[in-house]
Amino acid sequence: MTARAAVILAAGQGTRMRSKTPKVLHRVGGRTLLDRAIDAAESLGCERIVVVAGAHSPEVARHAAARLGAESVAIQDPPLGTGHAVRAAEAALAGFTGDVVVTYADTPLLDSKGVEPVFAARRGGVDLVVLGFEPADPRAYGRLVVDPHGGLLRIVEAADADHAVLQIKRCNSGVLAAPAPLLFNLLAAVTQTAKGEFYLTDVVAIARSRQMNVRVVYTDEVRVQGVNSQAELAEAEAVFQRRQRKRFLDGGVGMPAPETVMLSWDTKIAAGAVVEPYVVFAPGVTVETGAVVRAFSHLEGATVREGAIVGPYARLRPGADIGQGAHIGNFVEVKNVEVGAGAKANHLSYLGDGSVGPGANIGAGTVFCNYDGFTKAKTHVGAGAFIGSDTALVAPVTVGDGAYVGSGSVITEDVGADALALARGRQVEKPGWAAAFRARNKSK
Ligand code: UD1
Ligand code: MG
Repeated sequence: MTARAAVILAAGQGTRMRSKTPKVLHRVGGRTLLDRAIDAAESLGCERIVVVAGAHSPEVARHAAARLGAESVAIQDPPLGTGHAVRAAEAALAGFTGDVVVTYADTPLLDSKGVEPVFAARRGGVDLVVLGFEPADPRAYGRLVVDPHGGLLRIVEAADADHAVLQIKRCNSGVLAAPAPLLFNLLAAVTQTAKGEFYLTDVVAIARSRQMNVRVVYTDEVRVQGVNSQAELAEAEAVFQRRQRKRFLDGGVGMPAPETVMLSWDTKIAAGAVVEPYVVFAPGVTVETGAVVRAFSHLEGATVREGAIVGPYARLRPGADIGQGAHIGNFVEVKNVEVGAGAKANHLSYLGDGSVGPGANIGAGTVFCNYDGFTKAKTHVGAGAFIGSDTALVAPVTVGDGAYVGSGSVITEDVGADALALARGRQVEKPGWAAAFRARNKSK
């Protein structure tokens, strides 16, 4: 296979997002647009990936460098158009003679499947391949001018097109591929437009003037739709969610109201698990078979093991590991706690930093007091232990296996295995006091 590289354009301003966050660092399915573009390039087998970032958003450059290394980031300063942007990647691709594909960082639904036909055309002997599509509304897209044999003659930007060209329905997605030396050679011949831009699309006509074989392969509009505004970001999210829900339904996950469930790019749910309505899966969640995630729960960075029941109204935060057959009930928050098999925390509790042994029972209103304002400490509840309702476990603290803690206790010292710990005021009773009190006050 010819070696592959990708140049991902991400130097646009993205002003229409009206956000302090750079456009390509917004997320679809919990993954940044930029990372999704890099994922696609990686799954295409691109051995070199260059992200072209603008000087105006150093966060984009930093984000790309953190994932790919600084040598994989090129800065385009100032941004003078798509052709100029690709040229900015030339130094980073020095010595690379394989095929290079250009993609945009703001098309989050373009996966490797959508781009693969471009490489297939290259294998078939086409010098320069453009990915085209037929949008419902061609608006401002560049139009593809083809010859009668299906060859691509040139791409005309809508702003520069006459009435006849504007009638063309087939448009440029922005994605194209060619051997790297050829592409950079063509780009060197691109001249500046009256507005001072270098159009990547101009390489098409230049290649044709040199008798090269230039063709288009087509894909669906939805794959190449760009994100320019919050509304378009939400549309992309909706498409992503529909696909992801279908994937799980097809995979045997029970989801009676799929349209209410939000999934992430990396969510894993096994066949035979059930997800009730209105559940949000932030990134990093695994749900095993037989588990039930009940309505209105929010999960992130958590594992729900076989047969466990979570919710309704549960919140699992990063590091929550809910053991086989364990129950996490309503208004229970779990963070960075391993909950053993068969353990139960059914109502209104905060379990943060530590562990709950198998078969333990955590009463309503239990709080792991894990934070003193400076450091976090751990709470360990042993196997089969029973924590009475409304107990505060002040970390660091350990409750031994099989121990009991009386309701309403504030536990500040370790409790031995099989012991009973009580840490609350003793009950005092004064017979008749209430009646006397009332009588006194009424007579005033
Ligand atoms: C571009 C194409 C057009 C195509 C459309 C598809 C050109 C001249 N036009 O137009 O034919 O139909 O995309 O969406 O190529 N970027 C940079 N540096 C720059 C300018 C842009 O990195 O100097 C990046 C942007 O961040 C974006 C991509 O390139 O990811 C496309 O830029 P954009 O300005 O949206 O191009 P269009 O005018 O939409
Ligand atoms: Mg655009």
